[in-house]
Amino acid sequence: MDFASRLDKVKESATFKYSSLAKREGILNLTQGLINYRTPSRIIEAAERAMREGKTSYTPTKGIPELREKIALKLEEENNIEALGPENILVSAGAKQVIFEAVMALVDRGVEVAIPNPSWVSYEPIINLAEGRIVWLPLKPEEGFIPGDDFLSELENSNPKLIFMNSPNNPTGAVYPKKVIEDIVDIAERKNAWILADEIYEKIIYGEEHFSPASVYDKTITVNGFSKEYSMTGWRLGYCACQEKEIIDKMNIIQSQSVSCATSFVQYAALEAFTKEVKSEVKGMVADLRDRRDLLVEGLDATGLLGYKPGGAFYVFPRLGDGDDINLADRLLEEGIGVIPGSPFGSLGRGCVRISYGFVSRDKIKEVVEKLSAIEL
Ligand SMILES: Cc1ncc(COP(=O)(O)O)c(C=O)c1O
Repeated sequence: MDFASRLDKVKESATFKYSSLAKREGILNLTQGLINYRTPSRIIEAAERAMREGKTSYTPTKGIPELREKIALKLEEENNIEALGPENILVSAGAKQVIFEAVMALVDRGVEVAIPNPSWVSYEPIINLAEGRIVWLPLKPEEGFIPGDDFLSELENSNPKLIFMNSPNNPTGAVYPKKVIEDIVDIAERKNAWILADEIYEKIIYGEEHFSPASVYDKTITVNGFSKEYSMTGWRLGYCACQEKEIIDKMNIIQSQSVSCATSFVQYAALEAFTKEVKSEVKGMVADLRDRRDLLVEGLDATGLLGYKPGGAFYVFPRLGDGDDINLADRLLEEGIGVIPGSPFGSLGRGCVRISYGFVSRDKIKEVVEKLSAIEL
């Protein structure tokens, strides 16, 4: 059939594919980019209330003002991003949609966009849809996937209009130290490049400090959302902020001609996410995830399978060999363990697999470690 050529550069998401393969009976499912916690009940009740009150129509395309005000305040208080008002915020149907709109607003054919290698699976296809040119910035397992000299010199030698940063990171769990972020900002500033800081895992962090580049660099589009922190992946709600209001207005044009706005009652429900009750529920969840991280990392370290300690998100990205990680993920599936192969995250993910501990109990984590150490890799 005769489909548009842009599809040639975009494949089905590997995470969705392997997640559905791992949903079979008897598989220890470590594929999921979500956590086995329910959305806090205050948020659910607020959604019900909003629907009953008739808050079911289109909202302003940028999002309801009350929510944008709360987001601006949060970014000022918690992320030290100054001079933000509701007009600097765009609320959308998930962080993914926001990223899509940012790329569509900035990237023309052949324009360079720098992304880490490995990176979250959707960055590459979104840039390909815009026909941008990807500059891959190498990360190394032996450096705990934190940007080092090779990453910075590749960035220095490129000419990107847009640089992606994602800390805490998917797929590696790495948290970038402040100094590293400042080094990247320094290069961006000299090249007058935009930074897209994907901070969706901001609060899922185990003791390290989160640092937002927008607190020191105005040309940063800070992306965040409700999916991970509040266990709301299916509600589809994300947002971005930028001190340079013009980019928000341009992204809003794309939004108004595509999704129109985020779901009305979901936006009203999200106002509850800023209450101290919900915030303390999130803290409990993060403490639980931290225990799981410790258990998994200790187990994998004891069998020599990991070698670094991820500081956030709910992923580890061990390099299990030099071989083909797609075969490896398929073989592990046969052995009853569902993981995501590493190469769809970038060429340097070859030989790696992404293990998510977001959806498994401590007992299952012990089982996974036992099974992995018994398999001939
Ligand atoms: C790094 C990263 N950014 C963005 C997203 C998208 O989140 P949302 O559900 O808000 O679209 C994800 C989801 O897995 C992610 O891992």
